[in-house]
Amino acid sequence: MNNIALKEKFYQKKLLVLIGHMGSGKSSIGKILARNLNWNFYDSDKIIENKLKTTINNIFKIKGEIFFRRIEKKTIAKLLKKNNAVVAVGGGSILEKETRDLISKKTISIFLNVDIEVLVKRLKRSNKRPLLNNVDIKKKILTLNDKRARFYEKADIEIRNINNIDQSIKKILKEIIS
Ligand code: S3P
Repeated sequence: MNNIALKEKFYQKKLLVLIGHMGSGKSSIGKILARNLNWNFYDSDKIIENKLKTTINNIFKIKGEIFFRRIEKKTIAKLLKKNNAVVAVGGGSILEKETRDLISKKTISIFLNVDIEVLVKRLKRSNKRPLLNNVDIKKKILTLNDKRARFYEKADIEIRNINNIDQSIKKILKEIIS
């Protein structure tokens, strides 16, 4: 999408969605981005946890991934009705066609593209991701990447290798605001 079309879409939709792998920084960047725009920030995982009053780990353990994906799809569909909002969605949500279609129709999507090595380093410090419990994290991310990269790459904006959050925010704002 060219720059003018992107800016027009931004002013029409007033809704930004952050996509990318677990550990790519969607929540951290999303919160600051929302603050900069004076918009609200939503994180689909947090909303699901609040609604079901338990952790994502427990939802996967007790109800299973298929159940989670169903709730995730519904939660995101509701979130994407909002305006003046930045939404971070779970890394696997884009596997649902319905979710992908809503994202491309209703939002400006931003793909946080972080090197696998960096993701692995960050994810080794976390135990909040059920898909990464008791597995070789690098192998797992590579497998997930095989299925997901082509969807992430369809985003309106791609931000590569965020080492400096401030710089990433500046870059995103420059792309969407004239
Ligand atoms: C998942 C990503 C997680 C969470 C769940 C599954 C995935 O969200 O939805 O653990 O399939 O990539 P984050 O991307 O916010 O970590």
